[in-house]
Amino acid sequence: MYRTHTCGELRIENAGQQTTLAGWVQRVRNLGAMTFIDLRDRYGITQLVIDDKASAELKAAANELGREFVVQVKGTVRERESKNSKMTTGDIEIQVAEISVLSPSDVPPFTIQNDTDGGDELRMKYRYLDLRREAVRENLVLRSKMAIIVRNYLDSLNFIETETPVLIKSTPEGARDFVVPSRMNPGEFYALPQSPQQLKQLLMVAGFDRYYQIVKCFRDEDLRADRQPEFTQIDCEMAFVEQNDVLNTFEGLTRHLFREVKGFDPGEFHRMPFAEAMEKYGSDKPDIRFGMTFNDITALAQGKDFPVFNSAEYIVAICAEGCAEYTRKQLDALTEYMKRQQIGAKGLVYVKYGADGSLKSSVDKFYDETDLKKWADACGAKPGDLLLILSGEKAKTQIQMGALRLEMARQLNLMDKNVFCPLWVVDFPLLEWDEDTSRWHAMHHPFTSPKPEDIAMLDTEPGKVRANAYDLVINGVEIGGGSVRIFDSGLQAKMFGLLGFTPEQAQYQFGFLMNAFKYGAPPHAGIAFGFDRLVSMFAGLDSIRDVIAFPKNNTGRDVMMDAPSTIANEQLDELNLKVEIKEVKK
Ligand code: AMO
Repeated sequence: MYRTHTCGELRIENAGQQTTLAGWVQRVRNLGAMTFIDLRDRYGITQLVIDDKASAELKAAANELGREFVVQVKGTVRERESKNSKMTTGDIEIQVAEISVLSPSDVPPFTIQNDTDGGDELRMKYRYLDLRREAVRENLVLRSKMAIIVRNYLDSLNFIETETPVLIKSTPEGARDFVVPSRMNPGEFYALPQSPQQLKQLLMVAGFDRYYQIVKCFRDEDLRADRQPEFTQIDCEMAFVEQNDVLNTFEGLTRHLFREVKGFDPGEFHRMPFAEAMEKYGSDKPDIRFGMTFNDITALAQGKDFPVFNSAEYIVAICAEGCAEYTRKQLDALTEYMKRQQIGAKGLVYVKYGADGSLKSSVDKFYDETDLKKWADACGAKPGDLLLILSGEKAKTQIQMGALRLEMARQLNLMDKNVFCPLWVVDFPLLEWDEDTSRWHAMHHPFTSPKPEDIAMLDTEPGKVRANAYDLVINGVEIGGGSVRIFDSGLQAKMFGLLGFTPEQAQYQFGFLMNAFKYGAPPHAGIAFGFDRLVSMFAGLDSIRDVIAFPKNNTGRDVMMDAPSTIANEQLDELNLKVEIKEVKK
């Protein structure tokens, strides 16, 4: 037996017992007469002591130990003289009788403790060492726990967990595919699923009725803190349901997770149409932990001599409470922030509503206090507040103001990580116009059903058609998204037509789905949660990398394995591939 106890298990009640422990040497302190060793495993740390009465052989063995050696020790549990109340095992120590090295270790490249000295890249390269740290491991323990809660909950509702293939045909979800060449079918490629979307719809045609899968998805897209090229979804689909059934079922799952994991109920799940989210928050994933909603002051601000406003389609203001004292420097910095390429605002207008009731603005030349007071009233501002105003083309300006609202919330500390405000954003547009390709794109995916009352507009004003599509947003993060599906092959064919597919192309790409719909497809709808995002939100983390055992870095590399990498010519030959690199960008 390698061990009788773990390193987190022994307590004062065990004093006097014989024990065998195994684990990693966290630290050795040689105090001359005594040597103390902290032995660590997944469960905790136990102090070992080799005192002056120990044999010369044992003392020598202890002196040979270095950090991260794997050892087995036998000894007696005894009460400590100086107890450590910060450790669960802090009342006891092990008086060692025997020590054997199971595996030596090189000096690790960084210290394996919660406040490590290792930088990001180094820890990614030695991820297996980083995972030895309690804080990192605990995130993965949480992930495992949440997966089990999800499985049990969905199982209790009769969902069937079904694995779908990883080598499939391309599924359009808006990103690029990762592709895999087929040796047996020269010149042909599989795609890795961006999601099992079409497969889960086929399972509905198959009569599975309720499907789920905790599943890896792959998307070749630009990476951010909340995006990885391979990530995990809780993917679900239900037959004979309407939108409300799906929202209620998955509100139930989310609520259950909050109760089980965080120990509280998240309260009401608000519902907001997409149009309102854009109008009030300039975002399809509004963070509703705080207000600072938009005020359209176009009518109020036009008609004076300020050409920028007069020529603008839209003028919008937010009220930053208590910020009238913002200095010139702070306001300049905000303006610069808004002018950055990523945001692209042309400028920022402000109005300071002084505590004394005075109103001063950056456009005083054109507007007097009476004008400014009207704006302030429209925004519900009071003395001491600051109005921030943007103008321009409506859709762009809304998004810019959405970014400013978030920046102000950061500056004012309005985003409390311990507050959770779930929100369903509903009624997304079915289509969005893509300037680059001059054609319509499905905003969610091509299988999403238009709202029945909007179907007539498909031919006349496709841009106005709303979809039965919904996102679950928590604290400004898109946690999940889904839709009611088209289950009529005629409507599906029409949708492909609108998206610019010829009937032949649609048949080539999606024939299997359209054919399946000819054999009795039930009405169905579904949703997928971003599991990594959900876990990182529950863990209070900013990046999903921290809840993934072996994540990729921000250029999509696995720096530990050094992937992707080139492959041998023989391998390429077998695959009938010839690689010509046009330009290697490093
Ligand atoms: P969607 O594309 O909205 O929907 O994806 C569902 C959820 O997956 C998460 N997500 C990601 N997480 C980490 N890294 C990524 N690169 C990434 N991309 C997406 C998000 C998102 O809300 N088939 C549909 C679902 C459906 O209609 O049922 C789909 O995949 O949290």
